[in-house]
Amino acid sequence: MINFAAANILSMERIKLHDKEFRIFIPNEKIQQSICDVAKRLNEKYKSGVSPLFISVLNGSFMFTSDLLKLLDFQCEISFIKLSSYSGTESTGEIREVLGLASPVNGRDVIVLEDIVDTGNTIVELNKILLDKGASSVSICTLLLKPDAYKKDIAIEYVAISIPNDFIVGYGLDYNELGRQYKDIYVLDQ
Ligand code: IMP
Ligand code: MG
Repeated sequence: MINFAAANILSMERIKLHDKEFRIFIPNEKIQQSICDVAKRLNEKYKSGVSPLFISVLNGSFMFTSDLLKLLDFQCEISFIKLSSYSGTESTGEIREVLGLASPVNGRDVIVLEDIVDTGNTIVELNKILLDKGASSVSICTLLLKPDAYKKDIAIEYVAISIPNDFIVGYGLDYNELGRQYKDIYVLDQ
């Protein structure tokens, strides 16, 4: 049975997490439309040929991964890795592999699924880990990109939504582990 009261609680104009206030920024409808556009591109590219291995970067990418994969009509595999670089609202620049990769990537075309690319430290490190483990190719697919913060050389092949250099939460993204469950994306209200 659908609980409409609960659905409303999770769609609000403003939220407070720990000491900070956030206001609505990207509604779920817009997120879904952007994911649909990325799915169409992937479906076109992988409709024939070798099936890729998706590697979803936990924790932030769980909602994006779930919604994207439901729209794919080619054979694919999914695996997970857990990396961490953020503390509070700032990237520390130091990437920690918190949960290692369970699937062999040797000889595979890998597509990394990220919630957000900010400084790019995470994808640079992950790209290196995957190539060291023998991946044939590594492509990056991210829900969100902060183009003003990203200064690395690795091409980001699939970007659903580009945003300014602001701190956001919701739809998988957190502020000190809170806020991941919201279906919309919220921005820090200074
Ligand atoms: P990067 O290594 O600086 O590109 O940061 C990547 C990771 O930091 C993302 O996968 C997120 O988990 C986290 N992150 C970056 N920007 C934000 C944000 O605005 N809100 C919440 N988490 C973020
Ligand atoms: Mg992430």
